[in-house]
Order: sequence, then C-alpha cells, then structure tokens
Amino acid sequence: MQTKTQVAIIGGGPAGLLLSHILDRSGIDNIVVERQSKAYVLGRIRAGVLEADSVQMLRDFGLGERMDREGKPKNGSGIAWQDKPDFFIDVKKWTGKQMMAYGQTAITEDLYQVRERDGGEIVNEAKNVSIHDILSDAPHITYEKDGEKRRIDCGFAAGCDGFHGVSRQSISDIVLKTYERAYPFGWLGIMVEKPPIVNLVYAYHERGFALASLRSEVLSRYYVQCAPGDTVDDWPDDRFWEELLARFPKHLAEQIVTGPSIEKSIAPLRSFVVEPMRYGRLFLAGDAAYIVPPTGAKGLNLAFSDVHYLSRALVEHHKKANNHYLDTYADTALRRVWSAENLSWRLTRLLHVFPGEDPFDERIWQNNYDLLLHLESAQETLAREYVGLPFDD
Ligand code: APR
Ligand code: PHB
Repeated sequence: MQTKTQVAIIGGGPAGLLLSHILDRSGIDNIVVERQSKAYVLGRIRAGVLEADSVQMLRDFGLGERMDREGKPKNGSGIAWQDKPDFFIDVKKWTGKQMMAYGQTAITEDLYQVRERDGGEIVNEAKNVSIHDILSDAPHITYEKDGEKRRIDCGFAAGCDGFHGVSRQSISDIVLKTYERAYPFGWLGIMVEKPPIVNLVYAYHERGFALASLRSEVLSRYYVQCAPGDTVDDWPDDRFWEELLARFPKHLAEQIVTGPSIEKSIAPLRSFVVEPMRYGRLFLAGDAAYIVPPTGAKGLNLAFSDVHYLSRALVEHHKKANNHYLDTYADTALRRVWSAENLSWRLTRLLHVFPGEDPFDERIWQNNYDLLLHLESAQETLAREYVGLPFDD
C-alpha cells in the first residue's frame, strides 16, 4: 500500500495532533502515524498547566470550548518553604495574564475528537515506522500495520514522536549534538478524587520536594520527590500522604483533602536537548527533541510553541512559496527551548533536596528563595518565565 501526503506526522501525542489540526485548517494535507492505540494514548496522565499563549492557541484553533468550561484559570502558583513565608508567582500582577489548569489527557481527547470530526487521517498501531531519503526532495515513511508493509510519500516529515521515538534517531550522528542532565531522584505522582487546595503550590522541605496540583474542582494531583530506584509498591497511599503532608507547612497541609489514589506512577527527572531540530526535510517538535524536568510545567507548552513555529513555516512554504520560516525554525524553536530548560533546571535545583549537598549549598538555595521573597525584579522575572516568554516573530 502506498499513499502520498504533503506532511507525514510521526507521533500522535499532543504535538502531532495539534500540528495535524492546524495544517488541516490551512488546507495542507497530512497523515499522523502513531505507534500506540488510541486508548493507550488517551490513557496517559501527564502535566496539567497551560501557559497563556498555549491557552490562546487552543482557542484560536477552535479547541477552547471544553477547556474554558472545565479548566481552572489561575493567576499564578505558590511556593512554600518550610517555616519561611509562602511566596506567590504572581503572573497576573506582573504580566496581566493567566495560566490554565487543564490536563494534557483532556487536551489529547479534544484533539482526537476534532481530527475525527474533520476526517483527519490518524494511523494508530503503526509498527516499525522508519524515515527514508530525508535529505532528498522526495522523502518517504514506511511502517507496518495489520501485518502489511505500507509507504507514505511526503514533502516533509514532522518528528512528533516523543523521547522514545524514531525521528531523532534518524538524524546522522555526525550532526546531532546532545545536551543532558540527569537528576538523582524522581517524582511519585498520584491522582485522587478529592477537591484540590486553592492554588497550585510547589513545596521545598528538607525531606524533599512536594507539589499540590489539580485537574478540576473534584480531581487533585499530588507529587513527592522520591529516590531514583523507588517503585510504586514502595509507596502505599498511607506512606504517600504522611510524606506529602510533612513536606507542606502546617496551614497548607491542613487544607489538603486526602483519599484513596486512583492512579500512581513514578517519573524520572531529566533535562535533555538535541540540536539541530531540523535535518533535511525532517523537523522535530516537542519531546522528540528535548525533555524538561516537570518543575515549571514547561513540557507541553514548549511542544505547542514548536507547533506554532512549525505550522507557520509549513503554511508559508505551501501557500506563499516562502521558505524563510522553514529555514529559521530550528533556531527560533531552540531559543525558546533553552529558556525553558534554564527555568526548569533552576526551579528543580531550588526546590529539591540533592543527595550530597553540604550546608553551603543549602544556604545558597535558601538565599535564592529569600531573594524571591524580597526582590521585586526577581519576582517579575520568574512570573514572566513561568507564564511563558512571548513567541518570537
Ligand atoms: N512511531 C510512531 N509513533 C511513535 C513512535 C514511533 N516510533 N515512538 C513514539 N511514538 C508516539 C508515542 O506513542 C506518543 O503518542 O509519539 C507520541 C509522542 O507523544 P508525547 O510523548 O506525548 O510527546 P509530545 O506530543 O511531544 O508532547 C509533549 O508535553 O507534558 C509534556 O512530556 C510531556 O507528553 C508530553 C509533552
Ligand atoms: C501537574 O499538575 O501534573 C503539574 C503541575 C505543575 C508542574 C508539573 C506538573 O510544574
């Protein structure tokens, strides 16, 4: 079986699906090739905070209805630090903007729904996807489906297949540069059908980091920093709640409504970037090109900003024969990626306990928190980075 399309999109997570939708709205045909089943993709639980520009982008492309109904607009997020005063990252005050608490799982459902409504082609359970002749003018993708080998001839390939995907691996080792930090801990997350506390709060404690977040008025999401080798079996609910409550200051711990977890998982923390994000006619977007640690909730937002830049580049190429944005895509996207890597690294460093830290390190990081409490320029900078830097032209 052989088909032809203008853009072959590898990976049907939020980046691939949003790109597919935006291209379709501009009359550019595309096919999404996804390794997993639809049920698997929709079952994944990921982060849940949208920057102001991500919210606007979803609204602009007709994806805002459910988000505006079910999501929770937020003026910022809190930081708690043992017995020091609480701090609020006051996004509204410093930027006039708001964030939105709305889960990635819900966004992926919304995206699937519009692609199906609009007759979009998503091939699920596509095995052994590979990319061919990407440095030529006529690349193609092959994969296997239902025991049959299939081929898609395409003008461009968009690598939206996440950290474990094939796209990044298709770039020659000679040009590919990798930048990486591993962290000596993970995040243990649980979902619980109880009302969340008022604000999303990141907490530093000498026992380790903790986070109180939310998905809706009746669904809360909590995390604790855990050891790298821990498994969920090491963390029965009782142990989780005891540890979480101990890591928040008393007045916040008292507001947390505990209950049985309905989901529990552990994620490692990593900072990772590859350069370049373009190789011939292959363009990487989202987790295919980089990973940010979740402190700061940048992952999904960065994926959307890549989609913003890449869809603009592909539309300009196809509709106006203008290659400027294709040629600048990698550099433009990477500038924003590195800003987010920078913030996520700093927040991770500030808020976690690193094994082997000495009292000097502790004092330095406490002092960083004190600066946030007392220095308005530091408060403003953090608010601007947290809400998301503006897109470049
Ligand atoms: N062939 C086809 N599809 C693949 C392949 C492959 N070889 N490898 C992976 N995929 C699919 C995955 O099954 C997944 O559905 O690509 C998709 C990638 O989706 P995500 O990992 O969700 O990545 P992305 O769309 O870039 O989303 C950005 O934001 O919150 C963060 O890290 C979080 O998922 C996140 C991200
Ligand atoms: C989440 O709700 O899952 C979440 C929120 C904020 C983060 C990371 C994760 O920084």
